[in-house]
Amino acid sequence: MANQRLKDIIKLSSEINTVQDLDILLERILHETRRIANADAGTIYIRNQDYLVFTHAQNDTLSSRLPEGKKLIYSTFQLPITEKSLAGYSAMTGETIVEDNVYAIEGKPYTFGKSYDEKAGYRTRSMMTIPMKNERNDILGVMQIINARDCGGLIVPFDDDDMLYVNHFAGMASMIIQKAQMTRALLLRMIQMSEMRDPRETGAHVNRVASYSVEIYELWAKHKGLPDREIQVNRDILRMAAMLHDIGKVAISDLILKKPARFSREEFEIIKSHTWQGAKIFMESQSAFDEAARDVAVSHHENWDGTGYPGHIDIVTGEILHKDSEGNPLPLKGEEIPLFGRITAIADVYDALSSKRVYKESWNEEDVYNEIRCLSGKKFDPDLVDVFFECLDVIKSIREKYPETEE
Ligand SMILES: [Fe+2]
Ligand SMILES: [Fe+2]
Repeated sequence: MANQRLKDIIKLSSEINTVQDLDILLERILHETRRIANADAGTIYIRNQDYLVFTHAQNDTLSSRLPEGKKLIYSTFQLPITEKSLAGYSAMTGETIVEDNVYAIEGKPYTFGKSYDEKAGYRTRSMMTIPMKNERNDILGVMQIINARDCGGLIVPFDDDDMLYVNHFAGMASMIIQKAQMTRALLLRMIQMSEMRDPRETGAHVNRVASYSVEIYELWAKHKGLPDREIQVNRDILRMAAMLHDIGKVAISDLILKKPARFSREEFEIIKSHTWQGAKIFMESQSAFDEAARDVAVSHHENWDGTGYPGHIDIVTGEILHKDSEGNPLPLKGEEIPLFGRITAIADVYDALSSKRVYKESWNEEDVYNEIRCLSGKKFDPDLVDVFFECLDVIKSIREKYPETEE
């Protein structure tokens, strides 16, 4: 039995190793850790210098109170790494802490903050707080799993076995998190290179667009009844691909991108090429990620009604493949436009409208929604617009998670 549990954990670790996007990985790790100890809830904090940032939360009890298909909404916050909180103490000392009843902690430097429970209408009892460290023992973050359940569903303390297996798994997971953090940092660096050229593309913008895209995709895929495994894999791929939607701007001259005035017709033609120039970067390899990144880059400005760009052109040469009567490339239309491109288009426009940019103020919420509704069936796939509004509460919480850092 114990041996089987260990085998499961090793298998899980190698499975998790195939996930590449940091956010998706953290979600999986939290889910699997909870499963190992049969815990009702859990949270992950990621370290940012002297703070722990609350990034992920799962709670079976609270989720079961939501209507079908709805996700748990939580707001992010950060707490200083001090010995006053359970997570802070664990991050400071590198120790795993097991408490049987967090409301009755006595004689310890830390206490349990009840405010989350009070707001959510939840009761935390048993809790295991596990530090996540890299091989140099630097703290990457802290994971908390909450309310272990026995086979009858009753809340019980975490036992020694749970602690052994969870710690073992957290150790392996930490290494994988570190790798994903490096991948994320590399992607953001690539984006910074294009951002230096186009001040509109900030790290926060691309993170938001990627997260919105993933939410829209997931709900769409669930409606379609796609298998869970396929959804998970695609979420991972889409998140990274959507981050790179405008990477082709690296190929556009600064003189045009940074021009303070309106673009001329010729300049706009050049700007349009960022779509296929971006797709070209992912031409070489045939991995599912490269394919997705190619689709998103080339088709995120195509419109559902066939009025977008760049249309039917050769990604490598930019040559027009199908021309209209005036010699312009025939745009893609409807489902000819790859799904990931259609999704990223909504996410990108939504974020652009609701954010402040150098040349404009942010629109107010209602105006943004009206505009998106109005563009349904014109610029956007109407089915996806419906899905967008269906998961609007999650979309809004993502806005909070990735605020604009520089004003
Ligand atoms: Fe673009
Ligand atoms: Fe964008």
